[in-house]
Amino acid sequence: MKILGIETSCDETAASVIQDGRVILSNIVASSLKDHERYGGIIPEIASRRQMELIGCVVDEALIKAQCSFNDIDAIAVTRFPGLLGSLLVGIAYAKAIAKAASKPLIEINHIEGHLYANFLHNNGEAKAMPQLPAIGLVVSGGHTSLFHVDEQFVCTLLGQTQDDAVGEAFDKVARILDLGYPGGPVIDKIASQVKETSIRFTKANLGDSHNFSFSGLKTAVLYYVRKHDKDSDFNKAHVAHAFQETAVKSLVETAVKCCRAQGINTLLMGGGVAANSALRSSLTAACQTQGIRVFFPPMALCLDNAAMIAGLGFMRQPVLS
Ligand code: KG4
Ligand code: ZN
Repeated sequence: MKILGIETSCDETAASVIQDGRVILSNIVASSLKDHERYGGIIPEIASRRQMELIGCVVDEALIKAQCSFNDIDAIAVTRFPGLLGSLLVGIAYAKAIAKAASKPLIEINHIEGHLYANFLHNNGEAKAMPQLPAIGLVVSGGHTSLFHVDEQFVCTLLGQTQDDAVGEAFDKVARILDLGYPGGPVIDKIASQVKETSIRFTKANLGDSHNFSFSGLKTAVLYYVRKHDKDSDFNKAHVAHAFQETAVKSLVETAVKCCRAQGINTLLMGGGVAANSALRSSLTAACQTQGIRVFFPPMALCLDNAAMIAGLGFMRQPVLS
């Protein structure tokens, strides 16, 4: 079964064809990120206008790359929620129109759940160990930091989430404080990794036994530190980035491991843009190894927003035909 996926929840315009919920036949992502950089964040009106221009070509390219036509597609999956309203509307309207015109079923997908499903995708002929379900899922993106119980049917039940900023949002805001540009995650990741040890310490939020997170206090601590020290002769942005990243990663690792143990589940699925972070990948891998937890990260390209994860999850969410 071939499913065409469409994703337009933020700045990306993406389309993909996935075979049987697993094999990536095509995965096209056009981003308008460059158009937003100078504003230090995504401007929704710019994003949706670019998506209007791009959606037709991106879908056509996904079909061409997958060497198929509309007739070969069994269903269309589209991101329904959450996201920027104008951007979502472009994808949903386009998906509805082609589904109606070609008489194909339309499947609406939750974007956050899609991020976790990215762990089940692979290229044609690639050998890949598949995660076992049930699992704990942790989505770490620009808009969300949420822990889920994921059952055998991929039904996701929320166990905990950030009480304020998402972790990706904290990376972006700290990058802005340090004048490092937008988006902040990749550049903080890069400069923080050049530092082995720093004397700067930030404290992670304490949310007791809950599976919740908080990152706004950490972000504010960075702001106050920078205001106090940025004129010092030994002020070093990379050291601040390193200390911030270390604290944010520690909070994610500890809460995720604690959640797996509390639920008695030893599979952890990661997803979302921050899952591309090198310090998070290495710390979580090491912590899970000592706890006997199998942790799965999507390949880098599938951590960020894409339509492959939407088409893939569409396979699990097909309407049951009687
Ligand atoms: O999942 P995503 O592409 O979009 C949302 O659904 O939000 O995630 C984007 C977020 C941004 O906040 C970006 O700064 C962050 O992911 N990000 C990273 C890295 N790459 C992207 N954060 C930390 N380290 C990275 N390497
Ligand atoms: Zn996302």
